[in-house]
Parts: sequence; structure tokens; C-alpha cells
Amino acid sequence: MKFYIACDHAGYNIKQSVIDIVENLGHEIINLGTDSNERVDYPDFAHKLSEAVLKDKGSNGILICGTGIGMSLAANKHKGIRAALCHDAYTAEMSKAHNDANVLCFGERVVGLGVIESIIKTWCKTDFEGGRHANRVKKIEL
Ligand code: RB5
Repeated sequence: MKFYIACDHAGYNIKQSVIDIVENLGHEIINLGTDSNERVDYPDFAHKLSEAVLKDKGSNGILICGTGIGMSLAANKHKGIRAALCHDAYTAEMSKAHNDANVLCFGERVVGLGVIESIIKTWCKTDFEGGRHANRVKKIEL
């Protein structure tokens, strides 16, 4: 799989560890910043990543901020982006199987690296189930 990753200052401390997790699983990951603890505005990075994912068909995104909430709200403004805020392996699995999520969001202040690893592992191995869920996902777009 191919991933883009971005964070704000509140997600910066764990970003490199997340990149390592994704690479160790054998996936490609491209860093879109931010690259320091200096304060930035999370929507700028959510929009940058969403545009990259939409341009690169079939790619996926990972967004990290303090809670994951702001990043998911901003990313979901983009038609074609389905950003899921996940807290554990179960929500990660469902976000793929039922919602066909293409962007994974989580909060550095909410989940630890062990949980993040299980979220990413589960997300990578879960496929969209399609069927009745396909029609529902289609209805998300206004
Ligand atoms: C930054 O302090 C924080 O508000 C941001 O990272 C994020 O959690 C917003 O949803």
C-alpha cells in the first residue's frame, strides 16, 4: 500500500514512529510535514494530505493531531476523502470493512504507540466488504 502522512505540532512527537511502523509492515509512506514542534494549524496539513491522496489514485493517508478530531473534520471536507478517527483495532477494522475509509486519523494525546501499531496493522489487512455497504458509502457524498 502507499500512504501519505501529515501531522500538526501535537502529532509531531510520534510521527516518525508511525512512519517506522508503516515501513516495517512493507508499505510506502511519504511525509508531508509538519516537521517540528512549532505550532501550526491542523487544517493546513489535513488539506495538503487530502489533495495528495485524491491526486494519487488508490493511495491512503494518515493524519495525526492532538485528538485526531480536527484533522478528520478538515479532511472530510474533501469530496472523495473518507477520513476515519480510530481509537482501537475494532474501529480501524470497521472503518475499512464498512466505510471504505481512505484516511486514518488518530490523536497523539489519546492513543499510545502499541495501540497505534494495532490500528495500522488491522487497517492494512482489512478490505472494504462492498455489497450493502457500497450503497451506503455512496450516499455519504451530497
Ligand atoms: C492543538 O493544540 C490541537 O487542538 C490539535 O492538535 C487537534 O487536537 C485538534 O483537533
